[in-house]
Amino acid sequence: MSDKQIDEVSGMETTGHDWDGIRELNLPMPRWWVWTYYATVVWAVAYWIAMPAWPLLSDYTRGLLGHSQRAQLSDQIAAAKAGHAGLIARTAKASLTEIQANPELLEFALAGGRSAFAVNCSQCHGTGASGGKGYPNLNDDDWLWGGKLEQIHTTIQYGIRADHDETRANEMPAFGRDEILKPRQVDEVADYVLALSRDDGLADRLPGKAPFNEYCVDCHGAGGKGNSELGAPNLRNGIWLYEGSKPAVVDVITNGRSGKMPAWVNRLDPVTVKQLAVYVHSLGGGA
Ligand code: HEC
Ligand code: HEC
Repeated sequence: MSDKQIDEVSGMETTGHDWDGIRELNLPMPRWWVWTYYATVVWAVAYWIAMPAWPLLSDYTRGLLGHSQRAQLSDQIAAAKAGHAGLIARTAKASLTEIQANPELLEFALAGGRSAFAVNCSQCHGTGASGGKGYPNLNDDDWLWGGKLEQIHTTIQYGIRADHDETRANEMPAFGRDEILKPRQVDEVADYVLALSRDDGLADRLPGKAPFNEYCVDCHGAGGKGNSELGAPNLRNGIWLYEGSKPAVVDVITNGRSGKMPAWVNRLDPVTVKQLAVYVHSLGGGA
C-alpha cells in the first residue's frame, strides 16, 4: 500500500482496506486513551521497582519500599496483642468467678474461649461442642466430672486418663472380658441399666439389680445416679456417652471404655485455659 488513499467525503486518510467499495478510515486513537495507556505502562514499571514483583529462582525482587504482607500481618498481630495486653493481664490475675462477674473480662473470655475451642477441641467435641459417641456433649447439663466452673477448669487443665500426674483417672473394669461377671449376668445387668434409664419403675423387679448393687454402685451410685468425683455417668437420665442400645450397653459392661481427653495445662497458656473453662461453662455448666 504505497500511496495514501484519501476518503472523498471526510477528506481523511483510509487504511486501504476495502470491503465491496466501503473503505475503513484510519482514525487515530483518542488522546485521552493514548495517555491513559502510557500512564499504565509507567505505573507498572514504577510498581516493579517499588514493590515486591518478579519471582526469581529462589527469591523475588523485594522492591525499594520493602513492603511485605507478612511483616504487615505481624505488625497487626503485635498491635492487637498490645491492645489486649491489659485484658490478658487482668484475666491472668482474676479468679474464674471474678472473670464471670466482670462483663468486660467475661466478653473477652467468651471470645477467646470460643476461638481456642474451635482450634483445639472441636475435632473431638464437635464444632458446636455437641459431642458424639464417646465424646461428651458439653451443651447439656449432664457432666461426667462435674459442671461447676472449677471442675471444668480442672478437667481441661489435666485431662481425663491423660498423660499428667494430676489427670482425672478412674477406669470402669471390663466386667465381661475379665470374667468378673458371667455372660448371663452381664446381660441381666444391662437390662437393669436400660430399665433404669427408662425410669419406668420396672427396674427393681429385674434380676440385674443384685449384681448392680454389688459391682456398680461404688462408682455409679445408688440407683445409678452417677458420681462426678469418679467420672461415672448418671445412668438414669437417658443421656448416653456411648449408646443406649442393648448391644452397646452390653459392650460397655463387657469391655469397659476409658475414654481419653488430653491435658491442656502444658499445651495452652493459663489465660487461654481459663477462658476455655468460662466458655465451656457458659454452654451448659452447672451452678
Ligand atoms: C482427643 C479428643 C479430645 C480433645 C481434643 C478434647 N477432648 Fe474433651 N473430652 C474427650 C473425651 C473422650 C472426654 C470424655 C472422657 C470420659 O469418658 O470420661 C472429654 C471430656 C471433656 C470434658 C468433661 C465433660 C464432662 O461431662 O465432665 C470437658 C469439660 C472437656 N472434655 C473439654 C474439652 C476442651 C475445652 C477441649 C479443648 C481444649 C477438649 N475437651 C479437647 C476428648 C477430647
Ligand atoms: C470403677 C468405677 C466403675 C465401676 C465399678 C463401674 N463403672 Fe460403669 N462407668 C465408669 C466410668 C468412669 C464410665 C465412663 C465411661 C468411660 O470410661 O469413658 C462408665 C460408663 C458406664 C456406662 C456407659 C454410660 C453411657 O452414658 O454411655 C455404662 C452403661 C456403665 N458404665 C455401666 C456399668 C455397670 C452395669 C457396672 C457394674 C457391672 C459399672 N458400670 C461399674 C465407672 C465405673
